[in-house]
Amino acid sequence: KAEPPLKIMISGAPASGKGTQCELITQKYGLVHISAGDLLRAEIASGSGNGKLAKEYMEKGQLVPDEIVVMMVKDRLSQTDSQQNGWLLDGYPRSSSQATALKGFGFQPDLFIVLEVPEDILIERVVGRRLDPVTGKIYHLKYSPPETEEIAARLTQRFDDTEEKAKSHAAKWSFDYCIIQIKGNRSKEEVFAQIDTALSQMLQQRNNTSPSS
Ligand code: AP5
Repeated sequence: KAEPPLKIMISGAPASGKGTQCELITQKYGLVHISAGDLLRAEIASGSGNGKLAKEYMEKGQLVPDEIVVMMVKDRLSQTDSQQNGWLLDGYPRSSSQATALKGFGFQPDLFIVLEVPEDILIERVVGRRLDPVTGKIYHLKYSPPETEEIAARLTQRFDDTEEKAKSHAAKWSFDYCIIQIKGNRSKEEVFAQIDTALSQMLQQRNNTSPSS
């Protein structure tokens, strides 16, 4: 009998490496990557009223109100691809009220990954981050430079990537989730190796406990 698909949440300060790790996790585990920040940026790009409101908060590095974020995330998690393949939710929840709201809709993760990175490193990552608008790939001028001159020439910077923002978040809440803390101040491959080990162990445990019918 097929195992239920994996449900993972990943959290950490701005520029802690969530997006970078999500790319590696989805490549290996085939989960649907759902980024609260990406959903909000898509809403802004659509020019909707919610998007305009969200942008005001994001520019200041503040959390967008729950009224906008919660339904957006819930709707995406409910779609068929997420339900069939499992999901990797990135940047949500960012408060206990967001966690409670999602739980109320019946969405609970199997594992909650927290990336821990010291503040001085976060600032360096934010300031050096660049985005390829064509492929959506994230680069860093120093740690993950573009492969070709052509890509280098078209890289853009996110409107909210400022040193100020890097200092603005410090999550101080906890949930009744199964939580694993990962040291994010290492190379992206080393960070992924820690996550990969945790996920493989979890899958192994599942296999061991599920009835062999
Ligand atoms: P969001 O888009 O989630 O942004 P964030 O939290 O600021 O996270 P980032 O995307 O900045 O960083 P990341 O952790 O993905 O790092 P990355 O992999 O790019 O949110 C944006 C805004 O939307 C929020 O400020 C808020 O206003 C709003 N929002 C979002 N979710 C919300 C919610 N739930 N409720 C309310 N409001 C919400 O890496 C960063 C850089 O470092 C890159 O250049 C990368 O190449 C480099 N790098 C990554 N890993 C490594 C490594 N191991 N070593 C060296 N360099 C590395």
